[in-house]
Amino acid sequence: MNYPGEFHKLLTLDDIYEGEAKLVEVNRYEILVVNIKGEIKAYYARCAHALGLIESNSFDGEEKIICPVHLWEYNARTGESINPVGSSLFPLDVKVEGSDIFVKVPSVPISEFKVKWFGMYRQRGVINEFGVNS
Ligand code: FES
Repeated sequence: MNYPGEFHKLLTLDDIYEGEAKLVEVNRYEILVVNIKGEIKAYYARCAHALGLIESNSFDGEEKIICPVHLWEYNARTGESINPVGSSLFPLDVKVEGSDIFVKVPSVPISEFKVKWFGMYRQRGVINEFGVNS
């Protein structure tokens, strides 16, 4: 995903075991970091349905992230919605260097991100304008 941002060290691998998720806040961005059997993923922690907060216990420890508000389900590896289909969490870029986990946090103000980036991304019909394959 090509969005404006900078990498921030958020956690180390010792902070998040396999099957765990952690909710971290940076510059007013709520970020869910997930460890899926050793694969680290990160998402803007707001649900594509009605912006419910995706808490750390929303990860089932295996393959799903389930929004606690109305129970929309997402594939933890891709962020794509499973039930219902046709939407997605906003994936954030991750890199792991040694045991340090870096996440690319958007550099635009959160209000702009919600409208221009996340707002558009939630609607799959316009995802491709931002270079994301649907
Ligand atoms: S806000 Fe997440 S399912 Fe409604």
